Amino acid sequence: MASEFKKVYIETLGCQMNKSDSERIFGILSHFGYEPCEDENEADFCIVNTCSIRQLSEEKAYSKLGVWGKMKKDKPLKIAICGCVAQQEKEKLLKRFPYVDLVFGTQNIYELPELIKKDGRVCAVRENPVKEGDYNIIRAKNLNAWLPIIEGCNNFCSYCVVPYTRGREHSREPERIIDEAKSIIAQGYKEITLLGQNVDSYGKDLEAKPTLAYLLREIDKLDGDFRIRFTTSYPTDITDELIETVKNSKKVCECFHIPMQSGSDRVLKSMNRRYNREKYAQIVKKIRENIKDVTITSDFIAGFPSETDEEFKMTLSAFDEFELDYSNTAAYSPRPNTPAGKMVDKFIDEDEKKKRLAILNDKVKEMSLKSNQKYLGRSLEVLIESFKNGKYEGRTRNNKVVHVTGENINIGDFIWAEIDRASTWCLFGSKK
Ligand code: SAH
Ligand code: SF4
Ligand code: F3S
Repeated sequence: MASEFKKVYIETLGCQMNKSDSERIFGILSHFGYEPCEDENEADFCIVNTCSIRQLSEEKAYSKLGVWGKMKKDKPLKIAICGCVAQQEKEKLLKRFPYVDLVFGTQNIYELPELIKKDGRVCAVRENPVKEGDYNIIRAKNLNAWLPIIEGCNNFCSYCVVPYTRGREHSREPERIIDEAKSIIAQGYKEITLLGQNVDSYGKDLEAKPTLAYLLREIDKLDGDFRIRFTTSYPTDITDELIETVKNSKKVCECFHIPMQSGSDRVLKSMNRRYNREKYAQIVKKIRENIKDVTITSDFIAGFPSETDEEFKMTLSAFDEFELDYSNTAAYSPRPNTPAGKMVDKFIDEDEKKKRLAILNDKVKEMSLKSNQKYLGRSLEVLIESFKNGKYEGRTRNNKVVHVTGENINIGDFIWAEIDRASTWCLFGSKK
């Protein structure tokens, strides 16, 4: 029997916040006659939830629209674009892509019920968020649930679009977050990741000034076997209260994602980051002194405008100095509206950027292997997440991927594994 529901497909191209938004969009649309589908060819409604962090991410969105534009020639199809590119480009998208029916921004998600009822082509991009509605959230079917706590950014790093695509920082009410955490646990998820472009700024815009540490403590108190993570931290916003909380709580995992971006003080200043190498060093030292087996990861940009070879080398030496366990890396990409995007005469040549990025990636590999080798011979708690190629795969509290062998293992189990081999990207072990 044919379903009475229409099918909606979402292509999600961005960060965890973007993924979380897609889960909310699926949820909202489920109240209005749509069910999620995993094959774009079967969909009645296709939505691309976009990312604008680099030029390439933006281009991916346009090529997806092109594919759907062709599909629309053969069958009725509603096409929408949302997310960070929609927030940035607004009506221009309706002009450029005549087959797009709906453009909606990052702050318009809860307006979707009205937007989908409107006739004609619609562009809705607002600067401030509308009040959250009480709708379902259709989360990805795995063990980890994303839980947004704060959206937006007030930092205006000179290379970054996020303050323009996500607006100023706005925190969700703590009661709402804790209720959502309870419902996530009741649904059987084993890991909750608190999300924000800047999680440490949580609560500064709310009257009662609740902190990230407070949220972590409240969620830690909830009954059940589950882990709590949080991302992303701005180096100088990490407080002693947060470090203490991670140290003393049972369920909060020993991981800090603290993007450094560059190892050179001059480049950091030009990036408008509010710390220098010395300050970053102090934060990392404090975390390592207090939290055993902590994983510290980072993000770095290669080839920021006017970055010299010497300055790039300072980024490489930062890895060694701070014993970083892993880092995301990217070649600098000029973005609209940003101050760095206007430093055209200082742009680094594309080939040079690629060269630096490759060196950076080699450094990440070296650090990752070194970090994994620290755990050889140790016994670690692993949450089993999947079964692939005859091996169970899971992650430790400090976010190391482990391939585990053994009897009586089920997905969703917390087991102890003896680690007997370490490679660049994962550990190998057997169930104790
Ligand atoms: N809020 C986080 C990062 C969010 S964006 C922070 O403050 O660190 C994720 C990462 O994308 C950034 O850490 C940065 O390394 C990278 N990024 C942002 N803009 C970029 C650009 N224009 N070119 C290359 N990488 C960029
Ligand atoms: Fe972008 Fe900087 Fe804000 Fe991170 S802190 S989201 S890099 S502006
Ligand atoms: Fe991309 Fe927007 Fe996230 S630009 S990284 S989807 S906040």
